[in-house]
Amino acid sequence: MGSHDKEKTMVIQQVSDKGNDIDCIIGEYTLLKEIGRGAMGVVYKARHTGLESIRAVKVLAQDLAKKDEFLRRFEREAKIASNFQHPNIVTIHDIGANEGAHYISMEYVDGVTLKEILERKIPLSIALLIILEVCKALEYVHDKKITYRGEMYGDIVHRDIKPANIMVTHMGNVKLTDFGIARPVNITDETITGTMIGTISYMSPEQLNGQAVDRRTDIYSLGVVLYEMITCQKPFGGEPITKVIQNIASGNYLPLQRLLPSLPKKVSAIVSKAIDMDKNKRYQNISDMANDICNLLPQEIVSVPEKAIADYLKNGAAILVVKERKKGRLLLIIGVVGLLIMLLAAAMKMFAPTKLCNIVVNTDMTGIQVELDGQRFSAEDKTYVLIPDVPKGIHALRVVSINDKTRLKEQKIEVDETFEIVRVKLLEEE
Ligand SMILES: Nc1ncnc2c1ncn2[C@@H]1O[C@H](COP(=O)(O)OP(=O)(O)OP(=O)(O)O)[C@@H](O)[C@H]1O
Ligand SMILES: [Mg+2]
Repeated sequence: MGSHDKEKTMVIQQVSDKGNDIDCIIGEYTLLKEIGRGAMGVVYKARHTGLESIRAVKVLAQDLAKKDEFLRRFEREAKIASNFQHPNIVTIHDIGANEGAHYISMEYVDGVTLKEILERKIPLSIALLIILEVCKALEYVHDKKITYRGEMYGDIVHRDIKPANIMVTHMGNVKLTDFGIARPVNITDETITGTMIGTISYMSPEQLNGQAVDRRTDIYSLGVVLYEMITCQKPFGGEPITKVIQNIASGNYLPLQRLLPSLPKKVSAIVSKAIDMDKNKRYQNISDMANDICNLLPQEIVSVPEKAIADYLKNGAAILVVKERKKGRLLLIIGVVGLLIMLLAAAMKMFAPTKLCNIVVNTDMTGIQVELDGQRFSAEDKTYVLIPDVPKGIHALRVVSINDKTRLKEQKIEVDETFEIVRVKLLEEE
């Protein structure tokens, strides 16, 4: 890189006081204003000069752009990631270099990072929904196979899952950014500087040890993010950094149940499984973690998560209820008790002595029968007829003399309030 190139990069980085309008051209882009800074460089809101579309352009820090090996890796990772097409992944448009300034242009996310959202406590249900969206991005990538320069790349790992790399649009769409891009392969003392420290807290033990990483590293980091979203504190945070690294290596963190005793056990189980220091005990696939989260949320919300998330961002209201195990159990108990009561009632009806209804016939005659809806019942003595299960509301009641086979007509029927006693007053005999 010539001295002019160095100056150019420097100019871009110095002119851009955060938020202030700038007007600097780099390659195809007019940089409009700085929107953020990270370990790798500065991110600008930019306009593509030809298409006039708005993009985010990350200009690599000068010291990194000087390293050939770093640039090769940056290019390879960016080209691989530019193949991703997923609603939960920030699309990479292109990479380029202009007068010594190396940059990557991406979809501009009109929203905030999860890091900013986490400045205040968020409802558990929203935390789970956002994590579920990140799971979808990771499910897609972990299974993706991409050919680059004749070589097949599979088992792609993000390697840098953290709140600053998860963005949420004002419409409630969750977008994962910075896919495996421009990350040092091994963590050395030299690389643990500046904003890199913010990343350490989310790194898996194997990643910190410089061992090979696989999809379980992303699962671990996502678990750490979920822990932080629920508790507003990192499981592995604080100072000094050496202590943080030690705690990660030994899996030493405060269990969620200790911090929040009322938290549903299923939620803390998901987190502790994701951040197990032993990668063989973690979720082996992000889909398994996603399924467990899904089971805690109402289906109608899971199918349109962006609405719930946007509503929350707009109104700050906690609109969802996580299905707690206790509640499920309570419903089950209510259901079982209800069923038992119904069975008991049915059994009582089946075995209980038949309820008798007294029909009082006001007559001196013997040998009468009462005919109720076509069914005949004989009198016990002159005046009483006991009829089981008389329905409320008498239909066709007649009193019949069996001695002289005549039918008693013109009866005045008096029914008492409970319909249990029916008095039949004979007015005239046939
Ligand atoms: N595609 C994008 N659209 C809109 N804003 C973005 C985009 N990518 C990054 N940003 C903003 O730029 C900031 C800096 O991003 P960057 O990736 O450089 O740093 P970081 O993620 O905070 O840290 P690190 O460099 O360790 O990944 C982000 O926090 C975010 O606010
Ligand atoms: Mg980032």
